[in-house]
Amino acid sequence: MSAVLIVEDEPGLRQGLVSAVETLGFTAIPAASLAEARHALEGAPVDCILLDIRLRDGDGLSLLRELRAGTHRDVPVIMATAYGDSERTIGAMRDGAFDYLTKPFDLPALLATVQRAVKQRALAQALNPPAAQPAARGGLVGTSTAMLGIWKLIGRAAAADAPVMITGETGTGKELVARAIHDYSSRGPESFVAVNLAALPPSLLESELFGHEKGAFTGAAQRRPGRLEAAGAGTLFLDEIGDLDAALQTKLLRVLAGGSYERVGGDEQLPNRARIVSATNKPVRPGEPGCTLREDLYYRLAVIEIEVPPLRARKSDIPLLVAHALAGTPARAVSEEGMAHLLAYRWPGNVRELIHVIHRAAVLAGGEIIDVVNLPEAVRDERERHVAEDGPVVLRDAVAALEKRLIERALERAKGNRSEAARQLGIGRPQLYAKMEEYGIGDRHDGST
Ligand SMILES: Nc1ncnc2c1ncn2[C@@H]1O[C@H](COP(=O)(O)OP(=O)(O)OP(=O)(O)O)[C@@H](O)[C@H]1O
Ligand SMILES: [Mg+2]
Repeated sequence: MSAVLIVEDEPGLRQGLVSAVETLGFTAIPAASLAEARHALEGAPVDCILLDIRLRDGDGLSLLRELRAGTHRDVPVIMATAYGDSERTIGAMRDGAFDYLTKPFDLPALLATVQRAVKQRALAQALNPPAAQPAARGGLVGTSTAMLGIWKLIGRAAAADAPVMITGETGTGKELVARAIHDYSSRGPESFVAVNLAALPPSLLESELFGHEKGAFTGAAQRRPGRLEAAGAGTLFLDEIGDLDAALQTKLLRVLAGGSYERVGGDEQLPNRARIVSATNKPVRPGEPGCTLREDLYYRLAVIEIEVPPLRARKSDIPLLVAHALAGTPARAVSEEGMAHLLAYRWPGNVRELIHVIHRAAVLAGGEIIDVVNLPEAVRDERERHVAEDGPVVLRDAVAALEKRLIERALERAKGNRSEAARQLGIGRPQLYAKMEEYGIGDRHDGST
């Protein structure tokens, strides 16, 4: 029978998890501290570990790292925490966690993850423990569930060495994601070289990417190394990969398939040692309408694919991004009414547009507080349009506004205890979470797990 080690210091939760795991037909081994967990691991074989991060005798992440470096490197570890911040999520995934779950648990999802982990244990392939290194976060900001997913993927991609394709609408932060993957990967100390494939005509782009020999074409007075060569053993970031022309797609495919290339006008085979990370806001998946990327190249480039969600799908990040954008401007804050507009707007230009709007408004405001009048017309219009429209839109908005107020009040009454607030509202916790995310009701109500 498979054994699951449950490391959790809160007795009630520990007991609950033990019972839940036993319903799957597994043996559950409870441990209340890191010391007890280490003791249990010495005593009996374990097939999966559910590991809390904040324990009274230390940090679960340190145990994760010990396990990865030692004899238990194949045991899948599911990290659990009330704190879903980026640094820890990326760190945990990079250090080889199987998954990273936030409390309070969605029990069916938790059990499904445990089941998957135990199953994978049989097929486990050890990840090389990446060297622990402090790395910059690359300036990415966000605490939404969607961003939490991105932190996880960045951590996973950093631990792997395969090509990564990053997709998503314009301005969603694809380039920052690419840099974060590089920074957190073992190639972090090497160069990160970015090439915008849409910025140059194909003839120039070819020599930009691969370099050229002396005399390769008129004006080629000297041999010149390409960007691929400049990237060395680092990361080559191919931005706007969806715009690459057909001939260069073929050349790039040869680099990925054969591992080597020639400079323009040369025949010396140069080995490619760089990791390729690409990004695009164009359709690139085989069969997608408007896709011009060849299918075989797509599969070579998108061994790992990360889709960055649009800002409107993670509105709870908006206040944080606003604060981030305000830094360095004379303004200090956005009025409540102004923030309501920012939360209502659809942000077709995503984070880039938001940052631009805030920078502009900070100048226009000429004081400490940005108000509605300082926002561009499109953003100001958003709420008025909703109010002015007839019929179902108004009803839907009115219901939404009411719902939002009720949730905020319940959270206040429950002093931030979400289980209690959900109970008062007569809804389930997952539903409360979904609503809080939808309405951008944030962490100021956080008080409990
Ligand atoms: N999560 C984030 N936190 C902080 N800043 C962000 C975030 N996402 C994006 N930005 C900022 O928004 C701007 C656009 O980001 P980026 O250039 O990475 O977008 P992109 O997805 O590459 O867009 P495009 O498809 O137009 O090239 C940058 O100034 C970047 O610093
Ligand atoms: Mg970009």
